[in-house]
Amino acid sequence: MRRPLVCGNWKMHNDLRGSLSLVKSLLLRLDPVWLDKVDVAVAPVFLHLSPVGKLLEGTPILLCAQDVFWEREGAFTGEVSPYMLRDVGCSLCIVGHSERRSYFGETDEGVNRKVKALISEGITPIICVGETLEEREAGRVFDVVGSQLDGALKNVECCTGNEFVIAYEPVWAIGTGRVATPEEAQEVHSFIRSRLEAMYGGVAREVRILYGGSVKPDNFASLISQEDIDGALVGGASLKSDAFSEIVKIAALEGC
Ligand code: 13P
Repeated sequence: MRRPLVCGNWKMHNDLRGSLSLVKSLLLRLDPVWLDKVDVAVAPVFLHLSPVGKLLEGTPILLCAQDVFWEREGAFTGEVSPYMLRDVGCSLCIVGHSERRSYFGETDEGVNRKVKALISEGITPIICVGETLEEREAGRVFDVVGSQLDGALKNVECCTGNEFVIAYEPVWAIGTGRVATPEEAQEVHSFIRSRLEAMYGGVAREVRILYGGSVKPDNFASLISQEDIDGALVGGASLKSDAFSEIVKIAALEGC
């Protein structure tokens, strides 16, 4: 039985006041009954992790970073390490987001280093994979997603299934309003699960696989009710506390 996870990726949005008021509003809206059934996380910009984390102390809502560097400490101007994330209370970190891959040159090898560094610091990586429209139209979805997975998970152990989370985010569905159909998403999620099974055996059934890309309250129920969809990585709709709370509620009612 996989516990659903809904993570709000705030990307590069909000000033400090905006981030804090979004958290306060979420704390008022999220019903404890839903939070018993669903893991919920928010991922503000690095600068806001610490103050947002303070507001979340003593609540079940988890703090997530949007990226990380793999070294622990040193002359790496502008970077933040897993141990520094842990220090301010992060328990999750997104890696390999398509925006980082396309704008900042993130490679599968870099993602792999980040995954290992995070796991050894006790932080759960949310590993993003997904194809572009061009790749989908060329019939290369499984090739692309398969090799992103192989690259990210090279020499990564999986004993309980909770070491990492996968997020399938088709690039053509991110921020476009064009969501994958539940069947399109399930097809790739099921492929991801079989790839994980080939790598790790039966424990792959415990790994959570999130869907991301234009998730909204009105399309999420049919996604989360698919067998291999275990939650969502939400962009735009996570910036509105009413929409995000509604998505969490749907996960609690319809989730795995
Ligand atoms: P949108 O929900 O805005 O499409 O963003 C998805 C995403 O990239 C989450 O990481």
